[in-house]
Amino acid sequence: MEADISKLLPGQIMTVEWRGKPVWIVHRTPAMLAALKQAEPHLADPGSTRPQQPDYAANECRSIKPEIMVAVGICTHLGCSPTEKFRPGAAQGMPADWPGGFFCPCHGSQFDLAGRVFKNMPAPTNLEIPSHTYLADTRLLIGEDGKSA
Ligand code: FES
Repeated sequence: MEADISKLLPGQIMTVEWRGKPVWIVHRTPAMLAALKQAEPHLADPGSTRPQQPDYAANECRSIKPEIMVAVGICTHLGCSPTEKFRPGAAQGMPADWPGGFFCPCHGSQFDLAGRVFKNMPAPTNLEIPSHTYLADTRLLIGEDGKSA
């Protein structure tokens, strides 16, 4: 599945379908990247130690390029689709100390802007990061990691 991200502006999200699943691509702003650090003390698995991402996304941003997040948009609890709550604070009905991220309305799981789940949520793990690689600066290939033939 190829995705053209040339029109994805900082702060925006686009969704593509891959194998019947929604895959989110988010162009994170510097403020959104800073929010990842802010969220860390409140996360269940901030280092993403469980294998929910390929090796090349096992870093603090869970991505190949820090500014581009790629994640499967399916809650790891019972498979609902979380909604984006990118604005920090209470503006989108979240707690005042909300750093920005995603909220699953089904049972209330919260995820940060790298798809990492907050502590004490129904969702047991961080969101899945699919295999992906860059064919060009603004062209992503979802489902391949560039290593296999
Ligand atoms: S399916 Fe997301 S919290 Fe239950």
